[in-house]
Amino acid sequence: MTRNMREPSTPLFGWMASTLMQNGNQKVAVSAVQHLQVLSNDIVCEVGASNGLSLHEIVKYTSKDIYAVEISEVFRRQLRALNLPKNIFILGNDASDLKDEISDNTVNKLLGVNLVYFLNPLNLYLDEFFRILKPGGLGFFACKFDNIQGFDETVAPNKSEVQVIAALAKAGFETTSDFIDLGDENSRYTTIKFHKPF
Ligand SMILES: C[S@@+](CC[C@H](N)C(=O)[O-])C[C@H]1O[C@@H](n2cnc3c(N)ncnc32)[C@H](O)[C@@H]1O
Repeated sequence: MTRNMREPSTPLFGWMASTLMQNGNQKVAVSAVQHLQVLSNDIVCEVGASNGLSLHEIVKYTSKDIYAVEISEVFRRQLRALNLPKNIFILGNDASDLKDEISDNTVNKLLGVNLVYFLNPLNLYLDEFFRILKPGGLGFFACKFDNIQGFDETVAPNKSEVQVIAALAKAGFETTSDFIDLGDENSRYTTIKFHKPF
């Protein structure tokens, strides 16, 4: 199942993962976007957009380009079916290589909700996020580390806040973290904010 949480490979697994995420992540997805503080001129990149929970919120704030990076064809099909606004570009790339789609120093805000556990090797992805973010740009990971400790290590190797923060610092980011409790078990999460310095 960990493998299918990372990237659903069939419509059935897509449906199961989507249902789990819909039930467990709705509040966190909305809260994460609010913390990201998207401004009206911001270019945004969401990595692991899955079924679009956060995208629905992001479009409320900016009419500039929004890149939705989603490696799963099953989820990309779900996203296309939503008839999202024209400023959303759905990209099927692995997030470690966005060179053909997003130029250096382009993105103001980058979001990954329940994503970072799966990025392997993490440094490759963080280097790519550093490349696409503008100087002064902000990235934000929303993570439920407590809930994923049982995940298969080979699919989800990044299970610790300390480890992720150390990797972000090594990639050149300035990092802060916090814990948010929205009131129920599925809605407690760690926020990791990372700035690309000017
Ligand atoms: C656990 S889901 C979380 C989805 C959503 N953000 C949420 O919280 O409901 C992880 C998502 O990231 C996508 N993903 C995982 N690795 C990826 C990669 N290397 N590049 C792009 N997307 C990736 C998966 O296909 C999946 O949709």
